[in-house]
Amino acid sequence: MDKMNKDAGMPIALTLEPGVYHRCTCGQSEYLPFCDGHHQSGEFTPIRFEVHKREKVYLCSCGETGNPPHCDGSCGVELKDIIK
Ligand code: FES
Repeated sequence: MDKMNKDAGMPIALTLEPGVYHRCTCGQSEYLPFCDGHHQSGEFTPIRFEVHKREKVYLCSCGETGNPPHCDGSCGVELKDIIK
């Protein structure tokens, strides 16, 4: 996840329905934070993830997470402080 916004310092909170999703890592998608296929001429590949029940997810926007595409707090955000 090299092409993330390192200045963002904040996960992207989304409530998603069950399904398969692809997190954009090239930054060229017109459907951010999800992939729309723009990476195909570049070195980046999207990160596939599944949601099994309707839930709020916190997608990393800084590129420092150890658990892509999810924020793990490496950005300095305490998820326990924003998850209510
Ligand atoms: S936004 Fe990247 S680890 Fe939190």
